[in-house]
Order: sequence, then C-alpha cells, then structure tokens
Amino acid sequence: MLIRVPKSWELPESAATSESAYLLRPKPVTPRRDFLKTIGAGAAGLAAASLLPASLRGATAGFPTKVNPAYRDPALKPTSYELITSYNNFYEFGTDKADPKPNSQGWKTEPWTVEIGGLINNPVKIDANDLVMKMGGVEQRVYRFRCVEAWSMVIPWDGFPLSKLIAFADPKPEAKFITFTTFNDPKNVPGQRRPSLDWPYFEGLRLDEANHDLSFIATGIYGKPIPNQNGAPLRLVVPWKYGFKYGKSIVKIDFVAKQPRNTWQVMAANEYGFYANVNPTVDHPRWSQASERVIGEGGAFGRRQRTLMFNGYDKEVAALYKGMDLAKFY
Ligand code: MTE
Repeated sequence: MLIRVPKSWELPESAATSESAYLLRPKPVTPRRDFLKTIGAGAAGLAAASLLPASLRGATAGFPTKVNPAYRDPALKPTSYELITSYNNFYEFGTDKADPKPNSQGWKTEPWTVEIGGLINNPVKIDANDLVMKMGGVEQRVYRFRCVEAWSMVIPWDGFPLSKLIAFADPKPEAKFITFTTFNDPKNVPGQRRPSLDWPYFEGLRLDEANHDLSFIATGIYGKPIPNQNGAPLRLVVPWKYGFKYGKSIVKIDFVAKQPRNTWQVMAANEYGFYANVNPTVDHPRWSQASERVIGEGGAFGRRQRTLMFNGYDKEVAALYKGMDLAKFY
C-alpha cells in the first residue's frame, strides 16, 4: 500500500495565511473553453474572446486557479504583482529591467503550439491551452525567486508540476536530460534582430531535477494568465536555481541523452554553468552571491538579506547533488 509522506516544505492547512492576503479567491479550475460555453459564446471565435474579462484573457487555460496550500510558506511575503510584472529580464524585448513590459505588449502569444519530442514514447505537437487541460488545469504555488544578479522576489506562480508533463511524454530509458527551447521570432521581436544573445534562448535540466516536485511550468502569476513580459504562455520555474534557468515562452521540450548547453553558458562559460544552483558560497566572478537585494522592500536600493543555499530549498533538493563538487559544477 502506498502511504503519502508529506514533504518537509508542505504545511498543514492550519499554518496557511488567509487567501485574501494573496488577493486570491481559489475556485475550482475552469477550462477557459468551458467558461466560454457558460457565457454562451461557443468554444472559439474572436467575438467570444473579446467578451472575456481582462483577467481571463491570455494564452492559457485553467483559470481561475486553485491555491495549493502545501506550497505556501507563511513566512514568505509575496512581491507585488506590479513589481513582478514590470522588473524583468527578457532580452528579446530589451536589456533594461523596465523594457520587457512595454516592449512585449501586443506580441501574439495565442494561439501557441509547443512540441514535445526526443527520446519519449509520446511525441506530440500541442496547443498550450490543450496541454494545460491535459495536465489537469493549474494550481498556485508561492516560491522564492533568486536572480543571478543578486536580487530576489517571492512569486505566486500558477501552473502545473513539470513531472506531470514528463509522465505524459513517457521518456525512454536513454533520456537523461530535458531541454527547453524558447521562441524565435525576429520579425516581431526586436531584441532577436540583435546578437545580444545566441537566439533562441535555450535551457536544460537533468531529468531527475526536472522530475523533482518543486519543478514547475508556470502559466500564470497571482491567479492571472502570465503576461508576455514574464514568459507567456509557458515558462520554466526551478526555485532552487538562479532565474536564468527559467526559460520564457517555450516552444519545444526535448528529452535527450547528453547534457545540453544553455544560452548563458554559450555566452560566458566562465560565469554561468549548467547547474545554476543558488549557492551563497560560490561567488560570481564579478560579484558576491552571499546576499541579495529584496525587490520592493527597503526603498530604491532594496533591503539586503543573506542568500540561502539552494535558495532555501536545501532540505528538499540537496540529495540530487550528493557527492558533487558544487564549486566545480556551478
Ligand atoms: N527567457 C528568455 N526567453 N529570455 C531571457 O532573456 N532571461 C532569464 C529568464 N528567462 C530570459 C529568459 C533571466 S536572466 C531571468 S533572471 C528570468 O528569466 C527573469 O524572469 P522575470 O522577468 O519573470 O523575473
């Protein structure tokens, strides 16, 4: 008989802070198409889409979201929606933190197809909304976020566990890594007409890292479909790693046998490794990683706090790296 042992980060329901503290009203997951039917608009069509309230417009199904209390630490104070969605790294839309929000408005992220392939038994090209519904809709989890540039936020992500997608793909035994290729649209995205990075943005994980309970595909923030500047409609979230691992606007997921490279490793291998685990004891060659600026707290320069090993998820993930020299495998 299987007994479910609660994970160390799972909190009893009694420990959770009130829903209103997060500006959320959890409701059963409603497929967007069912929502359209309930308002008598049919399953598709532009006229129907325009009837949707702004909070339900976007490239993903499954809203409103059900908050998962197991992934909400009352000690974590979520950063404001305004800051999460206006202080961004998304080089396709500019290199300044304030660029992605204005520059990505109007960029078309629906319809959106994602291809899942490589060493799996169930290769598929699937619409992002259909994928979300196949995954059973979305849930919300509040995670710490740490950028390699030594700033941090706390983000209520909506989405589904990456392990569900892996089970759906059904990897063959030879599959040891998973890669995430993001979009390539130089015609409509000005940053991709410049060689600021090696386009398209590309990331990878070891399969056991990807299968970890914490690994997540985000489709929303604060119970709303994820805005373009944060990586609509699908983006990776791996909370114990630096933010550059979180590939935005994914179009292709491949299962492969060999460790892939990633965009920042290609750009500067001496500064950015494959693992990108948050590690306060390993400095970036140009700055310390011992502390971080908390965005939204403590005025213009931000309150500083000590950075935690694996971004505070050490109990959960340290076993993945047992016996590895984490200064070498950074
Ligand atoms: N994904 C793409 N496609 N392009 C990017 O430039 N930047 C990465 C990551 N994903 C990036 C990307 C970096 S460096 C960080 S810190 C996070 O996205 C930032 O995510 P946020 O803007 O939602 O905070």
